[in-house]
Amino acid sequence: MTSVREWEDKRRLEILDLFMTHVYGRTPSEKITVSYTLLSCNPKALDGKATCKQVLFSFTNGEKEIEAILLLYIPNLVKGKAPVFVGYNFMGNASTTLDPTIYHSPGLRFVYGKDSPVWKRGAQKNRWCFDQILERGYAVATMCYHDIYPDQVGMRDYSVASLFSDYIPRSRKHDEWEAIGVWAWGASRIVDYLVQEDRIDMDRIAIVGHSRQGKAALWAGAQDMRFKVVISNESGCGGAALSKRVYGENIARITTDFPYWFCPGFSRYAGNEEELPFDQHELLALIVPRYLYVASAEGDWWSDPKGEYLSAYYTKDIYQLYGMNGLESAELPFVNQPILSDVGYHIREGKHDITDYDWECFMNFCDLHLK
Ligand code: GCU
Repeated sequence: MTSVREWEDKRRLEILDLFMTHVYGRTPSEKITVSYTLLSCNPKALDGKATCKQVLFSFTNGEKEIEAILLLYIPNLVKGKAPVFVGYNFMGNASTTLDPTIYHSPGLRFVYGKDSPVWKRGAQKNRWCFDQILERGYAVATMCYHDIYPDQVGMRDYSVASLFSDYIPRSRKHDEWEAIGVWAWGASRIVDYLVQEDRIDMDRIAIVGHSRQGKAALWAGAQDMRFKVVISNESGCGGAALSKRVYGENIARITTDFPYWFCPGFSRYAGNEEELPFDQHELLALIVPRYLYVASAEGDWWSDPKGEYLSAYYTKDIYQLYGMNGLESAELPFVNQPILSDVGYHIREGKHDITDYDWECFMNFCDLHLK
């Protein structure tokens, strides 16, 4: 690749098409109607630190409707427009905080029975350090991913994919989009909504995703240039990790355990990774010229930290093409020593999770590039 022009007019589009054909499926261009209803607005949430809004999204094709709820915190200390983190939560909006006024997410009911611990308020509040995020002047927009595509086998009819005019319930078309593609699409719909929030800066949007949501965040970032920073936390196989290393989770395992995440064509590479005409670093290269952050955890061999690092490292030529700085060394850095360049990376001690430390690194990276 010798010029930005050649990259943008040709190679970038070819790579995007490769990922649609072989990994995530084709994202439809059809527009689905969405209406927004403000469910609540608390100007003094989190001890006055934030304005908290809950917004009901109703996606419809005229016959059928699917509902999702966005939870949005805007920092009161920021006088103008604030930068924002967009990211899905796993267990519903009410799991991210103990605040009793936060609604349970509608999509949870498809996946969990009434006795499930996910209904407990604050069940995953350790993953959302709202106080620190708001104190540092960032807004946060989160939604439960089950609202967009309930994360379980056989849920396609309850996902927003079912609203599209060419929807075939059990389509096994080689490049049929599936859950990760649909989650990525949904992340862009959150951005569509944010346009009408005059305290949110549309030029300073970061997308963050952990694990399976890290995979979706990368795919959303690859397709939607409005994401200026793209953060993948321990996204592993089918995310940041290189497939051809075949270390930790592999394509056979992921397409067996989660057959509804990727397009059917991805299974063709199960036990056959060397036949893939590309690898995941090319997905990461689609983030250029925006800023990319990849994070791993030492105890998370399943996500292959080294494969995640190398994948970020191999984007360096494309960053260089734009006069930007990728990662310098092919050696994995030491634990808890983040690299903050135009591409960022850290491997922290501990297990598979998203922690306050991870968030602190993401914010340090965003301070450099979004402030
Ligand atoms: C499983 C799966 C991973 C995924 C992870 C998660 O471990 O094998 O691919 O990233 O769940 O989402 O937590």
